[in-house]
Amino acid sequence: MFKRFRRLRINENLRAMVRENSLQVEDLIYPLFVVDGTNIKREISSMPGVFQMSIDEILRECKELVDLNIKAIMLFGVIDSSLKDSCGSEALDENSLIARSIIAIKQNFPSLFVITDLCFCEYTDHGHCGIIDLKNKSVDNDATLKISLKQALVHANAGADMIAPSGMMDGIIEYLRKGLDKKGYENLPLMAYSTKFASSFYGPFRDVADSTPAYEDRKSYQMDSANGKEALLESLEDEKQGADILMVKPALAYLDIVKDLAKHSKLPICVYNVSGEYALLKAGQKLGVIDYEKVMFEILLSFKRAGAKLIITYHAKEVARLLKNTL
Ligand code: PBG
Repeated sequence: MFKRFRRLRINENLRAMVRENSLQVEDLIYPLFVVDGTNIKREISSMPGVFQMSIDEILRECKELVDLNIKAIMLFGVIDSSLKDSCGSEALDENSLIARSIIAIKQNFPSLFVITDLCFCEYTDHGHCGIIDLKNKSVDNDATLKISLKQALVHANAGADMIAPSGMMDGIIEYLRKGLDKKGYENLPLMAYSTKFASSFYGPFRDVADSTPAYEDRKSYQMDSANGKEALLESLEDEKQGADILMVKPALAYLDIVKDLAKHSKLPICVYNVSGEYALLKAGQKLGVIDYEKVMFEILLSFKRAGAKLIITYHAKEVARLLKNTL
C-alpha cells in the first residue's frame, strides 16, 4: 500500500501544524552603512532600498527598526577616501565613525543589539582587508591580527554588543578572544565569518561600502567557492578558537555548506544573505518576472531549513513588516 502524503496537506491549519521551519523576526539582522555628515541618505543604485546614512539618519532608521520589532543590526562604516591609508588608521581611533555611531545608537536605543563588522577593506586606500606585506603584495596575516584587536577594542569600548570579524585572517578568533578577555570583555560574543568565500555575489556591497580592492582580488584570504570540505574545516577551527556563532557567506549558493556545518557543530549558525543575492531579487521584481515577496520568503526559509538560525539580510525590514501584518 502506498503512503498518502496529501493527508497532511489537506488545509492550511493542518499544514501550519506540521510545518517544520518558520521565519521569525528574531532571526533577522539588518545591515546599516554609516557615513560622516548630517542629513545624508543616499540610495545605492544596484540595491534599491539600501542607503548610506549619516548618524542622525541612522538614528531615525533605528527607530523604525525598533518599531518593526527587529532586534539586531550589523554596522559598517564608510569613510571619505581622503581619510584612508595603508593600514586603515581611521578604524583604530577611539573617535572613529563606527565608535561614534555605536555610542549614539546605544544611547538612544539601548535594547537594539549592535553587531559590528570588523574589517579593514572599507578603511584602507588599497581596499584589502588588512595590512599589505609589500614583499608578496598579499595581506600580512599576523600584522593584521594585531590591528584587528585594536579595532575590536574600539568597538567594545564604544559599547558594541557583538563583534564579527570578516577579514578571513587565520587565528583571528583566538587572538581577539584572548585580547578582549584580557581587557575585561569576556562576555562580549564573537560571531565568526568562519566560512567566507571569495564570491562575486559581493559586487553591490563594494559599491555601498566603497571597498573594492585597488588591485588583485581577495582569493588569497577568502575561500575558493569550489571547496566544501575546507569550508567545514574553516568553521570548525573557529569553533575551537572560541567563536560563539559561526557564519556561512554567501548564503543561497552555499546551502550544502550550511547543512554540513549544522551536522558537525552545535553552535548557532548565521548566514549572510549578501548584496548580490538581494540585488538579483530586486532586479527580478523590477522586471516583473517573479512574485518578489513569495520568492523572498521561500529563499529565507531555505536558510532555516538548511540549519541556520540567524540571517543577515537587506530584506529584514520588508520581512518584519510582512510578519507584523500577518500576526
Ligand atoms: C568585508 C565584507 C564584505 C561583505 C561583508 N563584509 C565584502 C567583501 O568581503 O568583499 C559583503 C556583504 C555583502 O555582499 O552584502 N568587510
